Amino acid sequence: MIKKKLTAQKLFMENQSLFKCPICNEMMLIKDFTLCCYHNHSFDISKKGYLNLLTANNVSIYPKALFLSRKRICKLGLYNPLINEIINIICKSNPVYILDAGCGEGSHLVNLYNKCGLRNKYIGIDISKESIKIATNNLENIMWCVADTSRLPFQSSSFDLILNILAPANYSEFLRVLKNDGMIIKVIPGKLYLQELRAVIYQNEKLKYSNYEVKSLFYQELAVVESICVKYQFTVKEELVHDLVTMTPLSFGKIDLNIFKGDFVVTVDLEILLGKKK
Ligand SMILES: C[S@@+](CC[C@H](N)C(=O)[O-])C[C@H]1O[C@@H](n2cnc3c(N)ncnc32)[C@H](O)[C@@H]1O
Ligand SMILES: [Zn+2]
Repeated sequence: MIKKKLTAQKLFMENQSLFKCPICNEMMLIKDFTLCCYHNHSFDISKKGYLNLLTANNVSIYPKALFLSRKRICKLGLYNPLINEIINIICKSNPVYILDAGCGEGSHLVNLYNKCGLRNKYIGIDISKESIKIATNNLENIMWCVADTSRLPFQSSSFDLILNILAPANYSEFLRVLKNDGMIIKVIPGKLYLQELRAVIYQNEKLKYSNYEVKSLFYQELAVVESICVKYQFTVKEELVHDLVTMTPLSFGKIDLNIFKGDFVVTVDLEILLGKKK
C-alpha cells in the first residue's frame, strides 16, 4: 500500500498546479501526503493512492458490483473497437493533459495510457468512490480522483483533451477547464446499443432508445469537428453473461439471470462526438 501512496504522491506533486481547491478555489500544493490550499482546506491521498476531492458525501447510484462486472467485460474486449478509434484520434491530435470525466473503474483510461505512451498526463475522475478504488489497481502513471463533474477541482484552461464516455457531461465546467485549442470527446449510445439485452430485460417495453437530446446538447455547446459511428456485434460466453447484465444500469430492476441461456450476442452501437470551443 505504501508504495502506491508514494507513487501517487509523486504524480500529484508533479502535477499539483492543475488543481484548485474545491472549497475556496485557491491553488493547491502537496505537503507530505495531503493536497492543501492556502486556507488550509486539505485532502489526503488515500492508502490506495487516490484523492477524494468531493466536498459533500455524494452517494453513487451505481453499486460496486456494476463496476467489477464492467471491468471484467472491458477486459474481454467489448469496447476495444471504440478505444481503438479514440486512440487514432489521440495520435492525430497529440494531447498532453487528458481528463477522463466519469471514468468509472478506469479500464478505458488504462487502455489509452498503455497504448498512447508515457509522455501524456492522465487524470481519471468519478463521483463514485467505489469505482475509483477499483481504478487504483492500475496506478502506474494515472492520477485518480473522486470528484464531481459539476464542480471540477482543476484550474481553468488545464486540459488538452476531455473524455466523457457513456457518462453525464457538465459543459460549463468542461469548457472552463479545457484549453482554448483543446478537444472534448464524448461517447454516447446509438439506438441499437445493447438492444438484445434490453429486449430480454424489458421484454420490448423500452426497446426504443434515442440519443437525440444528448446529441443536440453537444451540438449546442460545442463546435462539432466530427462524429464517428462505431457499430459491431460481440459474443459474450455463457459464464460471463451475468457480468454483461450487471455492468449496466439496465439491470437495476430485479432480473432473473436464469432467463439467459448459452452464449449471448450483443450489438455495440456507439457514437463518438468530437467538439472544440466555439
Ligand atoms: C455508465 S458509467 C460509465 C463509466 C466509464 N466511462 C465507462 O465507460 O466504463 C457512468 C459513470 O459516470 C459517473 N458519474 C455520474 N455522475 C457523475 C458526476 N456528476 N461526476 C462524476 N462522475 C459521474 C458514474 O459514477 C459512473 O461511473
Ligand atoms: Zn481552500
